[in-house]
Amino acid sequence: MTDDATTVLPPVPDALAAPASPVTLDAPLAPPARTGAGAPALPSGGLAELDAREITAWFGSHKVLDRVSLTMQAGRITALIGPSGCGKSTFLRILNRMHELVPSAQLAGEVWLDGEDIYSPQKRLIDARRAIGMVFQKPNPFPAMSIRENVLAGLKLTGTKASRSAKDDLVESCLTKGGLWKEVKDRLDAPGGGLSGGQQQRLCIARSLAVKPRVLLMDEPCSALDPTSTRVIEETMLELASEVTIVIVTHNMQQAARVSDQCAFFLASHGTPGVIVEHGDTSAMFESPRDERTAAYVNGRFG
Ligand SMILES: Nc1ncnc2c1ncn2[C@@H]1O[C@H](COP(=O)(O)OP(=O)(O)OP(=O)(O)O)[C@@H](O)[C@H]1O
Ligand SMILES: [Mg+2]
Repeated sequence: MTDDATTVLPPVPDALAAPASPVTLDAPLAPPARTGAGAPALPSGGLAELDAREITAWFGSHKVLDRVSLTMQAGRITALIGPSGCGKSTFLRILNRMHELVPSAQLAGEVWLDGEDIYSPQKRLIDARRAIGMVFQKPNPFPAMSIRENVLAGLKLTGTKASRSAKDDLVESCLTKGGLWKEVKDRLDAPGGGLSGGQQQRLCIARSLAVKPRVLLMDEPCSALDPTSTRVIEETMLELASEVTIVIVTHNMQQAARVSDQCAFFLASHGTPGVIVEHGDTSAMFESPRDERTAAYVNGRFG
């Protein structure tokens, strides 16, 4: 059940559907720039640490996370691992204020991005979403929109204006960072839905990057993909980590070992809420875990 410390979150519409106050973009991703007209570009901010403090979460009266704290280091890849139902996706959704979209959802605790509480009353939902992007398990491009329009969709939704050439630069830079440019540069006007699953997922990564997030959350981004596409996405993540903090949920222990610097093992045993049993450097978690439950999980003995 909830207690006094609980923040009861009213259901809100998806903020990305509601344009924020318009800003103007006249440069591709970093470096930060001002437009020729003097209007501010989208803030790009640089690398940022994400700090979750004492996160407790409920769906109705069902407590699914219990005082989970985790620092996700700037410019690093943090992997969240653990058996099904232990609250990894819920935790991830709390990190960019998507949890509050569920009518019964409640939350206690704090999430700090680069020293600022994203749940503070002064903070707008749209700012958290823009700064902290999300890529889902199932690629979700807008199927009828062109590849180019998909990449630019976030700008439209956040009310960002840009010149044609700034948009062209942004499309190329985001698709390059997403590891897709070479494959699609000659068919940018083809529908996003016509790409393969792996390409669609990279398109979604490119779309997330277009609003210059400081953190990219990825919930099992490769679980629907073949090994080759998975490898391409992993390479993309490793390249992106120098400019965006990445948090990935994965059930694939090899993937966690290959891509992540830090790892957190979630567990909800016997119907109790999810907690982090152990976290730290990925190599230590896999080679010499402190907790026997971590050892059992990373060695595939349960879950
Ligand atoms: N929208 C929702 N309404 C009610 N309960 C939910 C909702 N989403 C998740 N839950 C419950 O919260 C708990 C944690 O679910 P969550 O999806 O966060 O787990 P997970 O670790 O991501 O699992 P998986 O590895 O299977 O994706 C589960 O008991 C789940 O049933
Ligand atoms: Mg999940």
